[in-house]
Amino acid sequence: LLASSPVDYAALVQATRVHGTVYTDPAIFDSEMRVIWHDGWVYVGHESEVAAPGDRVLKQLGLEPVIMSRHEDGNVYLLLNRCPHRANKVCDVEREHSARIRCPYHGWTFNGRGDLLAVPYGNGYGSDFERSDLNLARVPRVESYRGFVFGSLAPDGITLREHLGNAAESLDRLSDLSPQGEVELGHGWMKHRYQANWKLVVENQVDGYHLHFTHQSFFKSYSSPEKPYKDGVDYAEGGSLVRVVDLLDGHSELDYRAEYRRTQRGFQWFGGIEDEKIAGYKAAMEASYGADLAWKRAVDGPPHTMIFPNLFLAELNVATIQPISVGKSSLYTTPVFLKGAPEINARVIRRCEGAMGPAGALLADDAEMSERNQRGLAAGSPEWITLSRGLEREGVTEDGFACSNVTDETPQRGIWRHYRDVMSAAC
Ligand code: FES
Ligand SMILES: [Fe+2]
Repeated sequence: LLASSPVDYAALVQATRVHGTVYTDPAIFDSEMRVIWHDGWVYVGHESEVAAPGDRVLKQLGLEPVIMSRHEDGNVYLLLNRCPHRANKVCDVEREHSARIRCPYHGWTFNGRGDLLAVPYGNGYGSDFERSDLNLARVPRVESYRGFVFGSLAPDGITLREHLGNAAESLDRLSDLSPQGEVELGHGWMKHRYQANWKLVVENQVDGYHLHFTHQSFFKSYSSPEKPYKDGVDYAEGGSLVRVVDLLDGHSELDYRAEYRRTQRGFQWFGGIEDEKIAGYKAAMEASYGADLAWKRAVDGPPHTMIFPNLFLAELNVATIQPISVGKSSLYTTPVFLKGAPEINARVIRRCEGAMGPAGALLADDAEMSERNQRGLAAGSPEWITLSRGLEREGVTEDGFACSNVTDETPQRGIWRHYRDVMSAAC
């Protein structure tokens, strides 16, 4: 294909197979950065990261650096991190607190919503110098849902609620595990650089097929003479009620609830922790929501949901995926603290390190597989990636979503169908 001819996404992304070049072609990457990561809704940060007026954190929206800032008016703003004078990156400290933002180059100063406050040696400018044109640019569309802040660099388009679609319920389910109905993500991020295309990282988050291969050493290390290692065959052949669900619009879930409900034991998602260790949490949940709802949440636990394109609700971790270039990405992970639940939070941080940290049991394995995926793609054939697993045994959830056995590729097909639709419509 000539570089100038449009990419035929319907040809490259088919119902049960995807062409390898979607992970390796720099021109496709550039189009994605425009269509999905600039014009679409992208998760940026959580309001709890900037809890107090004057708090700021550095984020990215697609490939553009942004400042997430809480202004004195109490609102959260997303500001483009570029000085309107001569384009210096005005903030370079990942997390700070001060009422003013001062550009290091010539000292222009802004407030927490980007208004230009002061220009040093201001009489050097003529009478036509219009300060109001020289504020920090704001991301044109910013909306939040349960404290999760999303932005879009396009001035118009669908609402955030429309974008979230059926995945909004996962944000509710996570937030509602707090007796106060709020999560806090302000406890720092672990960063992993992947030599892999961002979509490989997205697909992996809702892949139930790889567990007993990629993470075999993890399962073996938790085995004992009383609980010997099992190879996962039971789980793969319907012994587990965990299922994969296509939530539509590119969102998907690895849904544990049916498995947890089968035994009607609480907190299986938290290692089956003994009641006395979390007595305060249980009491607070019952006080907030009543005994029935508190029990239902204790059984069902948090979601394992991938919200397209970059927000992964990994039970009591949150991960965000950041593309860098066609073959490079970053993954940021943080523990989810439940507001008003100190007994849970003290344990969450250790569990997060254990699973997602640099020496953690899970994330390093997944990173290795994504990188090997990218290296494998350097071989030109076979040209297609196969995604047909489980197609003939898909069912429908009570809510009407396509679902299948935990090892099936229903989520990946859903992700790709949405990708094909948005890319075809825009390119
Ligand atoms: S570039 Fe920011 S003040 Fe000059
Ligand atoms: Fe994994």
